[in-house]
Amino acid sequence: MITGDPFPGDIRMALLIRNGEIVTADARYRADIWCEGETITRIGPALDAAVEAPAGTEVIDATGKFVFPGFIDPHVHIHLPFMGSLAKDTYETASRAALVGGTTTLIEMVCPSRADEPWEAYELWKSKAEGRSACDYAFHMGVTRFDDRTTEVLRRVVADGTPSFKVFLAYQGAFGVDDSELYRTLELAKRLGVIVTAHCENAEIVARLQRQLLAEGKTGPEWHEPSRPVSVEAEGVHHLATFAGLTGATVYVVHTSCAEALAEAAAARSRGVRMSVETVVPYLVLDKSYAERPNFEGAKYVMSPPLRDIRHQGVLWNGLRTGLISTVATDHAPFDFAGQKEMGRDDFTKIPNGIPSVEHRVHLLYTHGVATGRIDLHRFVDAASTQAARHFGLFPKKGSIAPGADADLVIFDPTYRGTITRAQQQMNVDYSAFEGVPIEGRCETVTVRGTVQVRDGRFTGDAKRGRMLRREPMHG
Ligand code: URP
Ligand code: ZN
Ligand code: ZN
Repeated sequence: MITGDPFPGDIRMALLIRNGEIVTADARYRADIWCEGETITRIGPALDAAVEAPAGTEVIDATGKFVFPGFIDPHVHIHLPFMGSLAKDTYETASRAALVGGTTTLIEMVCPSRADEPWEAYELWKSKAEGRSACDYAFHMGVTRFDDRTTEVLRRVVADGTPSFKVFLAYQGAFGVDDSELYRTLELAKRLGVIVTAHCENAEIVARLQRQLLAEGKTGPEWHEPSRPVSVEAEGVHHLATFAGLTGATVYVVHTSCAEALAEAAAARSRGVRMSVETVVPYLVLDKSYAERPNFEGAKYVMSPPLRDIRHQGVLWNGLRTGLISTVATDHAPFDFAGQKEMGRDDFTKIPNGIPSVEHRVHLLYTHGVATGRIDLHRFVDAASTQAARHFGLFPKKGSIAPGADADLVIFDPTYRGTITRAQQQMNVDYSAFEGVPIEGRCETVTVRGTVQVRDGRFTGDAKRGRMLRREPMHG
C-alpha cells in the first residue's frame, strides 16, 4: 500500500504498469509499477486503486504477462571496421533491433586497429552513437596496442565513464596484443579498478592452422572451425588466467564456446583468479553443422570462436544453470552474405567473422532455455540483464526492478508463438542465421527510462532516446 500523494506537484510523465508478474534475478511477485519521469518510484499491489493518477498517465495492463528489467547485451559490435569491411548496422538500426528484442542497454566494443590513435578511436565510436540511439549504451575500450602513451589515454577513457577494457588474444596483426601488452594492460586495469574483457584464442596457432589448411586446398567455410579448435580457445583462457592471477586483475572471458574453455575458467576460479565467463546466444542454439552447409551457405555461420560440435551445447547450458557462466551476450557483428561474407568464397580466412543476433538473444534464450526447463526465469533474467549490470557498473540503476531504478521494463507475453524471419528483422543485414526458428514468448512492450519504445512488438518510440551511460570503476 502506498501512502501520500505519489505525484506531489509533479508534471513529469507518468506510467503505470498494472497487475503484471514481476520477475527479477531473485524475486517473483504480482504488483503494479509506477514510473515518474525516467525512474521507477513505487511498486505495490493495486496502486491504481490507492491513488488517483494525474491526467496524462499512461496505464498499461500487464495481466497474464511477465515484467522483466530491461535486458542488457554486454558484447556488441556496431561500428566495426574488420577484415577489410565494415559491419552493416548503425546505431539507428541496431538500437531498434535491440529494443524489439527486449534489450534496453547495449555495451559496444571500441575496436581501434593497432595503427589507430586510441583516444581518437574512442571519440569516433562515441560520435557514431551520440544522438542516434533509441536505447541506452556504454562502451568497452579496446586496447589493441600498449605503448608509452597508452596509460595516459586509458586513464582519460576511464575518467570519461568507460571503466572496462577489451583485449584480443586472437586476430594477429589486426586487434591482437602480445604478451607484454597483455601484462601491462592487466597491471593498469588492476591499478584503476577496471575489468578487462578478453577474446581468448591463441593467435599464433590459429595463423599456422589456417596456412596449413589452405595449403591443403581446404578453403571452404567448413574449415573455419578446424582452424580454431577447442584446444586453441582453452589455451587462450588458460593464458589469460595466468596473467590475471599474476597481476590480480579482474577478467571476463567473452564468447565462450566450448567445454574445454569453460573447464579452464572453472579451474582458474578455483585457484582464486577473478575470472567471469560470458557465452553468446549462437553457441547455445546453433552448432558447427551450420557452417558446413553447402554452396558457401556456411559462411553465414562463420564467427570466432567458431560454432562447435553439438555436444558443447549441453555443457554451456549446464554452466549457465549453475552460474559458472554469468552472462549471455550476442557478439552481434553483422556482415551481409552478398558482397561481404562472399569476400571469402575462395578462402575461409577472408570471410568477415560474425553472426548478427542482437534482435533475437532474449527470445532465443527464453525459448531454448526457460521454455525447455534448462534454466529458470530468475537465471534467465540474471544472465541476460542483472549480471551484466553488476559486472559493468550499471547496477542497480539497470538490471533491477526497484524504486530508484531506471524505468527500463519489458512486458513479456509468454503465450505468444512466432517464427524468426529475415523479412521481419530490424537488423540491417541481408540474412538471418535463425531463419525459420520458432520462438515462444515475446517482448511485447519495452520502455527506456519511462518512455514506451516498443508496443505490440514493434518499435514506435523516440529514435534518439538513448544516452551514453557513464560508469565508475568497481573492480579495485
Ligand atoms: O566472429 C566474431 N566474434 N566477430 C566479431 C569480433 C569478435 O571477435 O568479437
Ligand atoms: Zn571476439
Ligand atoms: Zn566481439
